[in-house]
Amino acid sequence: MKKITKAVFPVAGLGTRFLPATKASPKEMLPVVDKPLIQYAVEEALAAGMTELIFITGRNKRSIEDHFDKAYELETELEYKNKQKLLEIVQGILPPSATCIYIRQAQALGLGHAVLCAKPVVGDEPFAVILADDLIDGEPGAMEQMVSLYESTRSSVLGVETVAPEETGSYGIVEVDTLAGGLQRVSSIVEKPRPEEAPSNLAVVGRYILTPRIFDKLQATTPGAGGEIQLTDGIAALMKDETVLALPFAGTRYDCGSKIGYLKATISYGLKHHEVADELSAYLRHLAETR
Ligand code: G1P
Repeated sequence: MKKITKAVFPVAGLGTRFLPATKASPKEMLPVVDKPLIQYAVEEALAAGMTELIFITGRNKRSIEDHFDKAYELETELEYKNKQKLLEIVQGILPPSATCIYIRQAQALGLGHAVLCAKPVVGDEPFAVILADDLIDGEPGAMEQMVSLYESTRSSVLGVETVAPEETGSYGIVEVDTLAGGLQRVSSIVEKPRPEEAPSNLAVVGRYILTPRIFDKLQATTPGAGGEIQLTDGIAALMKDETVLALPFAGTRYDCGSKIGYLKATISYGLKHHEVADELSAYLRHLAETR
C-alpha cells in the first residue's frame, strides 16, 4: 500500500490578524517558547511518517526557507565557540530523510488555490495538508492519528473539533453521519457559515488527508466565500464521488492565528518547557494573587 509521504504547508497567507507583528515577518515564524509555528507543523508531519515537505509560499516568506536550510555561518560560529548543544538544536531541525520543496503562490487566491499549486509535485498520491497556525499538542500527533484512519479506510480524512456555536463563522463546518464501527462520514461541509445557518458546530481545524482526486475538483472550483478558491468547496465536490471521513482527534488545539490562542499556546508550552516551566508557573501564581 502506498504510504502518505507528502505534506503540503500553505504558508503564503498575510497573517492580517497578527499585524503589526506580521508586517515584515511570516506568521508561521512566530515562536511558541523557542520554536516557530511552522517547525511544530513540520514535526507533526515527520512524526506521521511524511518525508517530502511541500511549502506553498509567497513574498516575504524567505525566512521559512532559511529556517529549514543549512546555516553555515551560524553553525561554524557555534562550533568555534564549542556550543555543542545549540549546534545540535540547529542541525537537528530536520532529519536527513526529509526533503523541502518550495512552490510560490503568486497571488493570494485562497486555500484551495494554494493546495492546487502542489499538484505538480504531489501527482497521483494521497497527501496531507497542515495549516501551521492551528497548533495541536497531542501524543500521538493529530496527523499520525489521521494517517492511521486513512490506512484502514483509504478515505480522505478531515481533522475536526467541536467549537463554540458563535465561532462557526471562522471555520469550515461539517455535518456527519455515523457509520458502522463508529466512523464519522462527512455528509455536508460549508465554509464559515453564520451560527444561525451552520449545520453543526463541528469545525475543520487545519488538518487534512486528501486523495489526489481533490485536484480535479479544485480545478473545477470557482471562487466562493471571500472571492477565493475554497478548499472546502473542493472537498464538497469530492464527497459526491468518494467517502470523506471526519476525525475528532485527541489533543489540544490552539488557534495561533489569533492573539488569544497564541498567548494560551505560549503559556501552555512554557509550562511544559524544562528551562522555564517552574519560574513561569510561579510567576503566573504570583500574578493571579496580586491582580
Ligand atoms: C481555513 C479554512 C477553513 C478551516 C480553517 C482552519 O480558514 O478555509 O475551512 O476551518 O482554515 O483553521 P482560515 O483560517 O484560513 O480563514
